[in-house]
Amino acid sequence: MSGTQKIAVIPGDGIGPEVATAAVEVLDAVAEKHGLDLDFVWFDLGAEKYLAEGVTMPQATFEDLRDHYDAIFLGALGDPRVPDMAHAKDILLGLRFRLDLYINERPVQLLHPELTPLKGKGPADLDFVILRENTEGLYVGVGGNFKKGTPDEIAVNEMINTRKGTERIIRAAFEYATRHGKRRVCMSDKANVLTYAHGLWQRVFKEVAGEYPDIESRHLFADVAAMELVRAPEDFDVIVTSNMFGDLLSDLAAQLVGGIGLASSGNIHPGRVSLFEPVHGSAPPLAGKDVANPLAMVLTGAQMLRTLGHPEAAADLDRAVRGALADKQVTRDLGGSLGTKATGAALAERVAKG
Ligand SMILES: NC(=O)c1ccc[n+]([C@@H]2O[C@H](COP(=O)([O-])OP(=O)(O)OC[C@H]3O[C@@H](n4cnc5c(N)ncnc54)[C@H](O)[C@@H]3O)[C@@H](O)[C@H]2O)c1
Repeated sequence: MSGTQKIAVIPGDGIGPEVATAAVEVLDAVAEKHGLDLDFVWFDLGAEKYLAEGVTMPQATFEDLRDHYDAIFLGALGDPRVPDMAHAKDILLGLRFRLDLYINERPVQLLHPELTPLKGKGPADLDFVILRENTEGLYVGVGGNFKKGTPDEIAVNEMINTRKGTERIIRAAFEYATRHGKRRVCMSDKANVLTYAHGLWQRVFKEVAGEYPDIESRHLFADVAAMELVRAPEDFDVIVTSNMFGDLLSDLAAQLVGGIGLASSGNIHPGRVSLFEPVHGSAPPLAGKDVANPLAMVLTGAQMLRTLGHPEAAADLDRAVRGALADKQVTRDLGGSLGTKATGAALAERVAKG
């Protein structure tokens, strides 16, 4: 591959285009400073296109993204005019499942001491990552209703856990720890009640942990993990867990470091094009008003750069966000008074000068 890295930007719906525009301005600044050759290509996919043309994710576009891009940078999807989210299912879930993006990587890092609701905890205590299994578990949509709408109705959702799927996410956690110099991996499940499904997770975890003797392995049931995250977040470096519990634990963890306006995520399959998106949605009431906070999208950009092999540029972005938070050069939801565009421009300037 040449030095150019191609990034597909799917701004999407609602505030998506505004936060994506601001974040790409900041990414351009960091690329310029670090001599990175990033080629951003914008894709018009989302509710507007779906409503006008009935198009969600054309097969040719999917193949183009799969075969010719290094990463996908997605704003947000969701529009009140498409209540069943038909377009988002094809675009977001379609990419996750068809590209088999089995690692949902959720960094949890406190970037300013005032942002945590935890008494007596600071940035040194809140610095870990959650790797959530992203393709199996309770989210595969296998199940059905029997006698629907009657008093005798039965509703079933199957939980799918494969040996392969379990092993690769657990291995990803140990590999992450090795790559990032982290000492501890904690696996969280409910093997005490989900004896078959999470019994598999227990067996595989023990087996894989044995291959990484330098990394401390630990197990916590998901309910205990939720309590421990609040009581002693400093005890965690890498948490690996199933789709369902990862969904809950990662949102809890996001609130420990400032909430939705700062939460980033990556949907990753090593060696393939991966998809990076902020955790927040399209916030329709804020759209078009220049009030949306672009920092989650900027931090998502940092996560993308880290995954693409540019840790110094990523660290520079993190530093710039820390500075912006300290100086309150942020949007109203974080206690500042800037608009989306001004926040992006100030960050870009901070990166260029920093
Ligand atoms: N990954 C995604 O694309 C994704 C994720 C969640 C929700 N959604 C979709 O987004 C739409 C809205 O959903 P929702 O309201 O439940 O969640 P949301 O994340 O859009 O908004 C939740 C709350 O956070 C605020 N908020 C969110 N992002 C913000 C930002 N960048 N700056 C300032 N405030 C922000 C909103 O104003 C709202 O009060 C729905 O269509 C939903 O399906 C999409």
